Amino acid sequence: MEQYAIKGGSALVGEVEIGGAKNAALGILAASIMTDEDVVVENLPDVRDINIMLQAMESIGVRVEHIERHTVRLNAGNVYSQVIDGDYIKRIRASYYLIGALLGKYHSAEVTLPGGCNIGTRPIDLHLKGFRALGAKDASVSGGMIVAHADALKGAHIYLDMVSVGATINLLLAAAMAEGQTIIENAAKEPHVVDVANFLNCMGANIKGAGTDVIRIKGVSRLHGIEYAIIPDQIEAGTFMFAAAVTKGDITVKNVIPKHLESISAKLIEIGCEIEESDDAVRVVASKTLEHTHVKTLPYPGFPTDMQPQITVALGLAQGTSIVSESIFENRFKYVDELTRMGANIKVESSTAIIEGVKKYTGASISAPDLRAGAALVLAALAADGFTTIDDIKYIERGYEDFDVKLRNLGAMIEKVDSDYNLQRFKLSVS
Ligand code: UD1
Repeated sequence: MEQYAIKGGSALVGEVEIGGAKNAALGILAASIMTDEDVVVENLPDVRDINIMLQAMESIGVRVEHIERHTVRLNAGNVYSQVIDGDYIKRIRASYYLIGALLGKYHSAEVTLPGGCNIGTRPIDLHLKGFRALGAKDASVSGGMIVAHADALKGAHIYLDMVSVGATINLLLAAAMAEGQTIIENAAKEPHVVDVANFLNCMGANIKGAGTDVIRIKGVSRLHGIEYAIIPDQIEAGTFMFAAAVTKGDITVKNVIPKHLESISAKLIEIGCEIEESDDAVRVVASKTLEHTHVKTLPYPGFPTDMQPQITVALGLAQGTSIVSESIFENRFKYVDELTRMGANIKVESSTAIIEGVKKYTGASISAPDLRAGAALVLAALAADGFTTIDDIKYIERGYEDFDVKLRNLGAMIEKVDSDYNLQRFKLSVS
């Protein structure tokens, strides 16, 4: 089984190129099913979730052609089924976007219930309620599948009880070709919601207001092919920014949209880092001791829940007492046990972590419990004294392309190893 072997203690210094946004890409790939013409998607991250999504699309007849590592040409002109099942699809959360896309184009969809990271109960009631409002009377979970069929889809006025990225994107997809106008109120405003809306608009959809909490969609009868480049990944960028903070390094994240990183930059400044922004890059210099702070995760433009483990790792090394409140997912502090084994002093009370900063983490044998927590534990290991091994890196590879390679280029001592022999060799090489 592959694991990361890490020797901590080096400041990470240099530049890192950020890839395309995984969560935008998942919505955009699904949307590309909605035209019979060729769609070329650029800046697609080469990560496990994306490859599973492409596999699912191929399974119903979408032609997928890899033009180069980050560019695919897709053609959905010969889709012969609207049923996607199989165990592999459970591994990604965003398989549910295939429901919105297939329902929108074919008025019929059946997809195995998604899995994804175990960070809470993650219901899909808002998606189903929205599909029903648009005319899919039977939209429900049945026999381990999400099913939705409609004679016709008709625009509707939909109020989301909670701000949900997934439900907003899914309803954009389902409503893009519905008859008449759909209004989504209390919509999510995340950059990836805007990117999916932009993609659909480039295909000929009529969507206004994405990025605000009211989105208006006028259904169109047909969508056409396009070439489109996905926005940079806010969370990959934020993870490297926190890598600078925890290792007292100096990292420039390149190919980013600094506006999308504002809540992350603001917290880094609060805890004592310096930030320099340019048009498409952000530099984080962390020469000083980290200071404590309070943070609460919120929908965009608030501090992202997907950055909560990374900031907790940094605050674990800050002077004084910090508080991190998780307001989106109820089960997102599972990694704290692993961090405690590395010397952190953190108490979790329901959805709040109370953190007493320690001077150092120490290396340990730990496991990645989910995608973002796994990446955060890598940061902890890079800051720690001694060796750490991290198991279950398959979770990290769901969302970070070449994570070990990019970190090594910044001076990290990290290696992906698959045997005890290779682990010992790594230890010898860095001792
Ligand atoms: C997406 C992201 C995930 C990120 C999250 C919040 C993808 C593939 N995943 O997940 O990385 O952490 O946004 O930014 O883009 N909820 C309901 N009913 C629903 C849907 C959601 O109650 O039908 C609740 C959820 O339990 C959660 C909150 O709404 O408490 C937000 O969830 P949501 O924004 O939908 O997250 P995902 O789309 O699953």
